[in-house]
Amino acid sequence: MPEASSQPASGTTAAEPRVLSGIQPTADSFHLGNYLGALRQWVAMQDTHEAFYCVVDLHAITIEHDPALLRRRTKVAAAQLFAMGLDPDRAHVFVQSHVPEHAELAWILGCLTGFGEAGRMTQFKDKSSKQGTSGTSVGLFTYPILQAADILLYTPDPASGRPLRVPVGEDQRQHLELTRTLAGRFNHRFGETFTLPDAHIPEGAAKITDLQEPGAKMSKSASSPQGIIDVLEEPGPMRKKIMRAVTDTGSEVVYDEEKKAGVTNLLRIFSALEGTSVPDLEARYQGSGYGQFKKDLAQVVLDTFTPIRERTLKLLDDEEHLDRLLAQGAERASEVAVRTMETVRERVGFVVRGR
Ligand code: TYM
Repeated sequence: MPEASSQPASGTTAAEPRVLSGIQPTADSFHLGNYLGALRQWVAMQDTHEAFYCVVDLHAITIEHDPALLRRRTKVAAAQLFAMGLDPDRAHVFVQSHVPEHAELAWILGCLTGFGEAGRMTQFKDKSSKQGTSGTSVGLFTYPILQAADILLYTPDPASGRPLRVPVGEDQRQHLELTRTLAGRFNHRFGETFTLPDAHIPEGAAKITDLQEPGAKMSKSASSPQGIIDVLEEPGPMRKKIMRAVTDTGSEVVYDEEKKAGVTNLLRIFSALEGTSVPDLEARYQGSGYGQFKKDLAQVVLDTFTPIRERTLKLLDDEEHLDRLLAQGAERASEVAVRTMETVRERVGFVVRGR
């Protein structure tokens, strides 16, 4: 297969590993779970990887949506990514629908996916059981196959030995497994084409839970407003939500997943944001009760998100500039995606279009 990356991003070398990830523009703001489970890693990995990050608007229409809202949320999503520290000179940030090869590869991979195999995806089962059969689209069913296409389009040449890494939260593990299975199946049938991607799931922050229901994932679609901390939230409500987070009986700040799920979630958040180990935090708050602990945590969250919020609003003030950054990202993503698809079409047996 021709090397899909003839021109590495500025500051990267051809031997550098690649990273690809995506996030849905399905809310007015990203949340703390997105940030700790995935986005923080996106920013860190741009320094050591050739980086491709997309706002997955095709995935966002697998549930009923409002077109004007989708357009707005896609821009707000992109602005937050840059505001968090993604540097357009180091990371290729783009909108998924700007690179139509995503949908084309998804079709081909879909033809290699068993119906039962797709039906076993737990996210699909959860979402479709909530919406009922009539409210569940075929797009929601094939969602993980589109995700596999997102990832595999950016495959390095398997002969190069360059890894392909995918930073995600714990809830995406099964989709990554499916992606590896489909890549292996394609390679087996049509010849070595795809590097098998590796999930990059952070320890400790891979599943941030709802502040009001510490047994459930913090989620844009399922959490109540009191259970979720939005990156773009105003400081006052943000502080209040943390102070009102469900803690457990007793008053000791100790890590215990079973008996103290609420405090354990807050400890994980604190530890990940401040870079202090959980045992050190337990020692710091020994005997001081939940109040001081939550107050300090609220400050750490505010210190992290306030500058991001301010930069996001500034970026949204100049939409033309934002559009140019996204066009630049899509251009480089397209170069890689087009080459991968040329190889894929040839391997699958499609006739090359004559001139
Ligand atoms: P999405 O948009 O639901 O979430 C974006 C990222 O945030 C992570 N995440 C969490 N991590 C920890 N705790 C939480 N409570 C939490 N909630 C969300 C998710 O794991 C994810 O990494 N299917 C993907 C989008 C996608 C994608 C891709 C990802 C489309 N194509 C290609 C990687 C590669 C999704 O639904 O993300």
